[in-house]
Amino acid sequence: MAKKSPKKLRSQSWFGREDIYGFIYRSWVKNRGVPHDQFDGRPVIGICNTWSELTPCNTHFRVIAEHVKNGILEAGGFPLEFPVMSLGETLMRPTAMLFRNLASMDVEESIRANPLDGVVLLVGCDKTTPSLLMGAASVDVPAIAVSGGPMLSGKYRGTDIGSGTNTWSMSEDVRAGKMTQDEFHEAESCMHRSHGSCMTMGTASTMACMVEALGMGMPGNAAIPAVDARRNVLARMAGRRIVDMVKEDLTISKILKREAFENAIRTNAAIGGSTNAVIHLIALARRVGVELDLDDWDKLGRGVHTLVNLMPSGKYLMEDFYYAGGLPAVLRTLGEQGLLHKKALTVNGKTIWDNNKKTECFNRDVITPFDKPFKKNTGIAVLRGNLCPDGAIIKPSAATPRLMKHRGRAVVFENIGEFHRRIDDPKLDIDENCVMVLKNCGPKGYPGMAEVGNMPLPPKVLKKGITDMVRISDARMSGTAYGTVVLHIAPEAAAGGALALVENGDMIELDVAKRRLHLDVPEKELARRKKKWKAPAAPMSRGYTKLYVDHVLQANQGADLDFLVGASGAKVPKDNH
Ligand code: FES
Repeated sequence: MAKKSPKKLRSQSWFGREDIYGFIYRSWVKNRGVPHDQFDGRPVIGICNTWSELTPCNTHFRVIAEHVKNGILEAGGFPLEFPVMSLGETLMRPTAMLFRNLASMDVEESIRANPLDGVVLLVGCDKTTPSLLMGAASVDVPAIAVSGGPMLSGKYRGTDIGSGTNTWSMSEDVRAGKMTQDEFHEAESCMHRSHGSCMTMGTASTMACMVEALGMGMPGNAAIPAVDARRNVLARMAGRRIVDMVKEDLTISKILKREAFENAIRTNAAIGGSTNAVIHLIALARRVGVELDLDDWDKLGRGVHTLVNLMPSGKYLMEDFYYAGGLPAVLRTLGEQGLLHKKALTVNGKTIWDNNKKTECFNRDVITPFDKPFKKNTGIAVLRGNLCPDGAIIKPSAATPRLMKHRGRAVVFENIGEFHRRIDDPKLDIDENCVMVLKNCGPKGYPGMAEVGNMPLPPKVLKKGITDMVRISDARMSGTAYGTVVLHIAPEAAAGGALALVENGDMIELDVAKRRLHLDVPEKELARRKKKWKAPAAPMSRGYTKLYVDHVLQANQGADLDFLVGASGAKVPKDNH
């Protein structure tokens, strides 16, 4: 690959000058003991760090950054670490997703405005991965994403417990009277017992797999546990590699081609990955000008089996996945089945097939063979119908097979507040055959499209031993959750979608095999209801939330802000220096 002459590095238009600006740019950086030779035209690498004590999954990132830094120095680069907005899934309200696009703006502008030739993106907790990828993609510099790695498996009274997945199930057990509050507290201390992100195949693990499948991470990125020394080695190797990527001018847009996204979609099906990947990958593709839509998810995922037996769809955890061979073993299988674009380029300069063709699987119960898969034909299913003309999705691997074709009476919750108020009410008119309908939880409605689509079931149903019902909404669902849950209905209720018109007692038909979601109410009646419909009041009249609600796109378009779609490149606009 052609090497860039050092003079052409963008950092040299800061550090390579002999005028007053050169003095200013270098002199202030020298204040922490940086020698003059660091400005001699070597690649300047940003380490974009999402460390924060408010993001518990990323609290080991200062250590990871040091390993990246060592790698950069070893390869002759000049590292400069910088913080960006960090999105902690568990603490942020109303939902971290509200801020994904804001964080991506922070990343984009921080990279473009500074003397950086390439970046290493430290990503972990759910939204930190898409926000950093999206922001960096809109600048299009060379970049490697380094995931923080999953936590060790949770251990509770002799059994493995997984982030989120067992939180939901144990919470239901408490509500059904099967678990005491003391046991619930005990489990709280047993679940998250090391650094790292959720160790189920939730959104963080899924996005770490997406990083590797897209070619944006080093081989092995997805599953090495956060506390395993090999995670630090990977970070160090990424630091070494990014320096060469700058010399090769291997920018993000040369890796994130349509083929890379197709590989990622099939990988998501094979790992039983999170539905959130649908929104994040569509948003990322639109940043780099790759056409990708909801139907691609359905089309490309068909015929791909879930090979990975991990929670929430299965029983194992990310630690087991890594010891069984991790994502490389899955990618090899996909390649052997003709389900991988083998020539797709990755950040280490090799193709995805070169990286994975000789990998091995060490546990066929965790990573099943393609001819004896853990679950068959289980990619994301995209539904259409009068309730979701712009689409809705369901994750069949997490759903109950007998409910995939279902007709039931709607029990409607106008918003999440009403849901919380009414769901435990013994007088709620509901049984297991009903369809639970939640409105106004989409991008504009919540705002931020919270992970509330997997509504907890009412106690009167739980007490019968029933663990699943059909639930539909314009919300998202945690990647750690499960159930027959239809999500991302577009247009959302708050944007005037048909979901807003559903009333208690309406009949709703779900037929996943036929990809259909239908509200069985005559057109004339729907038109009458539409006339009476009023948009909910705006949640805020100022600030970022107003900007977000005014500009956010619907789920099928990736829920990006309309003015962030696309890229602006690395050139500083209106630069008078
Ligand atoms: Fe951070 Fe799950 S809460 S990865």
